[in-house]
Amino acid sequence: MSTKPPCRLCGHALEEFVSFGPQPTANAFLESSDFGSESFCRLAVGICGACAMVQLIDEVPNEQMFHKEYPFRTSGSAGARAHFEQTAQWLLDTKLADDQSFVIEIGANDGAMLGSVQKAGVRHLGIEPCGDLADICESKGIQVLSAYFDESTARRVAEEHGLADVIFSANTISHISYLDSVFRGAEALLKPDGLLIFEDPYWVDIVAKTSFDLIYDEHLYFFTAGSVRDAVARYGLTLVDVQRISLHGGEVRYIVAREGAHQPTAALSGLLEAERAARVTELATLERFAARVSERKTALVGLLQDVAAQGKRVAGYGATAKSTTVLNYCGIGPELVSFICDNTPGKQGRFTPGTHIPVRSPEAFADPYPDYALLFAWNHQQEVMANEQAFADAGGKWILYVPEVTVA
Ligand code: TMP
Ligand code: ZN
Repeated sequence: MSTKPPCRLCGHALEEFVSFGPQPTANAFLESSDFGSESFCRLAVGICGACAMVQLIDEVPNEQMFHKEYPFRTSGSAGARAHFEQTAQWLLDTKLADDQSFVIEIGANDGAMLGSVQKAGVRHLGIEPCGDLADICESKGIQVLSAYFDESTARRVAEEHGLADVIFSANTISHISYLDSVFRGAEALLKPDGLLIFEDPYWVDIVAKTSFDLIYDEHLYFFTAGSVRDAVARYGLTLVDVQRISLHGGEVRYIVAREGAHQPTAALSGLLEAERAARVTELATLERFAARVSERKTALVGLLQDVAAQGKRVAGYGATAKSTTVLNYCGIGPELVSFICDNTPGKQGRFTPGTHIPVRSPEAFADPYPDYALLFAWNHQQEVMANEQAFADAGGKWILYVPEVTVA
């Protein structure tokens, strides 16, 4: 009898192909009094031998990750603010033109998208389980329900607010273990020609860039067009279109309709074909990815040790959830990276999970500048480097580790 864990979607055995060892909760930035009481969970990824869904082997309970003080703010980068304003405009122009239109967002965060919908006076509802985020939405005048999205929430919303034209979600669907309940909920909550539109990090880009730090506890699934097509088909839904998105190192926006309601596009067949050609669900490809992850660790730690041996000072830039995987997997602590600066109020004055590096405000970066800055927010590289041009002008060097370890 196989002891391999089952796929969350179809129950078939998962093949594990990469492991990062025990990891703390990625976004649990600590007070020093918390140092002795952190909880760790093994971080490893597998692929389903039947439905090809890439997913974490073990999982952390929702309430441990997504609670009142969950710190991540979508509006923390200008790139994300612009992306979600454009997204709202696209929805308003193409999907919500009717005066009875109704849009729901799963994981509304700080209202980066729904804020524009609210300003346009279009009926909407944000569904956001993290209390502080729901409060921010409310303070912006956004209608919000503080709840996790599942089938029972969906049925409640349908009863109280009616059916939706669009259910939108960014960087949230891939966080939810019980996708069966999410897709059943979407099916119950959409109008007959309504659309479920969600965007998440794209597994093909993660493999291409070896951006292994996108693997952390919140990212339970790593979608491809092929795995999403097969997953939604189990619930009377059809993947009809895809859009490539550059945010967060490469994402795909999936557009899903009821079976037969919309025609699949050429963009979808093109992406499915490209996925077949890239062989991103073959075990040999995945094992090569795992080997590159290990090489990346050796290169990064080697560089940081060399720099430390020269007596140079390194600070981190962006206390991202991604940095938790890098720091804990590579065993990098305050002896190699003295502090990390970040513009998120809920992270400042705290310490990184597991590795206990202090997190400071962006002002601390220049006080005085370090010799090197390790860019954990590499997905916002252009924005950060433009904002911090004075660092480079003063002779400071950036250390990047995606798609290779480089000094710039
Ligand atoms: P993300 O990569 O998950 O979007 O997280 C980016 C983190 O980096 C987030 O905590 C905000 C922070 N950040 C800064 O501190 N300064 C910046 O200029 C940018 C773009 C992000
Ligand atoms: Zn499966």
